[in-house]
Amino acid sequence: MAIVTSGFEARPLSSEAGALTDDTILALLSGKGPDEALFAEADRIRREVYGDAVYLRGLIEFTNYCRNDCYYCGIRKGNRNLSRYRLDKETILGCCREGYALGYRTFVLQGGEDPYFADDPDGSAVSDGDRRLCDIVASIHDEFPDCAITLSVGERSRESYERLHAAGARRYLLRHEAASCDLYRTMHPAEMSIENRKRCLYDLKDIGYQVGAGLMVGAPGQTLHHLLDDLHFMEDLKPDMIGIGPYLRHADTPFGRSSAACAQGLDKEEKLQLTLRLLAVLRIMFPYALIPSTTALGTIDPKGRELGLKAGANVVMPNLSPAEVREQYELYDNKICTGEESAQCRSCLEMRVMSAGYRIVTDVGDVKRPAECSSGMKG
Ligand code: SAM
Ligand code: FES
Repeated sequence: MAIVTSGFEARPLSSEAGALTDDTILALLSGKGPDEALFAEADRIRREVYGDAVYLRGLIEFTNYCRNDCYYCGIRKGNRNLSRYRLDKETILGCCREGYALGYRTFVLQGGEDPYFADDPDGSAVSDGDRRLCDIVASIHDEFPDCAITLSVGERSRESYERLHAAGARRYLLRHEAASCDLYRTMHPAEMSIENRKRCLYDLKDIGYQVGAGLMVGAPGQTLHHLLDDLHFMEDLKPDMIGIGPYLRHADTPFGRSSAACAQGLDKEEKLQLTLRLLAVLRIMFPYALIPSTTALGTIDPKGRELGLKAGANVVMPNLSPAEVREQYELYDNKICTGEESAQCRSCLEMRVMSAGYRIVTDVGDVKRPAECSSGMKG
């Protein structure tokens, strides 16, 4: 491996994780290895597996109702300063039609854990929420059989995930947020647990979904050792997709209001650099992974998404939600792309991808896993 890592004590992370050891990773994340060499190595690996392709995912933020109260998230149920919306099936299909005409072949339905779509608590009965969500998925699948449907709607029972898979969903994004129990607990109320989050991810994988995990970089209280725990967890999970982006403050959240939480976090520049370094480390450890250059990265720096692509990311997720609801899906303050129409988002991102030296690809864009790690993938 071309990265300068000499001088760091070597302990293998695992046989599958290439040459990176814990000490090397810590050194790279703390900026002790030259960043240029790290990013160049990540780019070399990404080009080896995916060439210069950048995959498009059309993001439809279809509900901002949420039953959870994560301490960092702007759409948490405790935020009374937010007006809530939920798109109906026809509106969602309208977004897909617009996206299809713009060349999208993956639709990502993302939302809070909306009680209107909730599953049965023990999973055995088919709830009204299951029926509603399955109906939306099946309708998209019927009308766009050549497209992939990705869901990102939080924690559910295994049975509910199975129903959604049968309805046509094939990918699922569920950031694990923090693999360390202690850190997870400081970011979430007591009724949420990392154990259930992990259970969901392994169930999804076992059912045959392409699965995405991930986390926020620079969350209050997070250290480089926590990030190492995240990498170890993902090494075990072997996700197909990995979503990371900087943690950004939202004023109407417990973290946003707490001066202690604000003081614990990194500043903007540090968060940007650490996110880029982690993207590069992820690309080196998971050469096959689909890794988005996220909206949060574009929010923290006007060139953040271009920098993310150059550090190893190979997916962009332009917004396909109706322009009039975008501001209400405000996970953090000053989120970008809330004013544009879908066609504007598409062409803006195309220009950014080209200027970074890559090429937008409009096919379905499945993961390119080596045969030996493609366990559990069906349909
Ligand atoms: N409810 C689904 C779930 O929990 O996976 C999907 C929606 S959730 C809002 C999507 C992601 O937004 C979360 O996984 C979290 O990492 C990210 N997010 C929430 N608040 C954020 C913040 N303040 N800064 C950066 N990212 C944030
Ligand atoms: Fe909705 Fe965290 S606030 S999942």
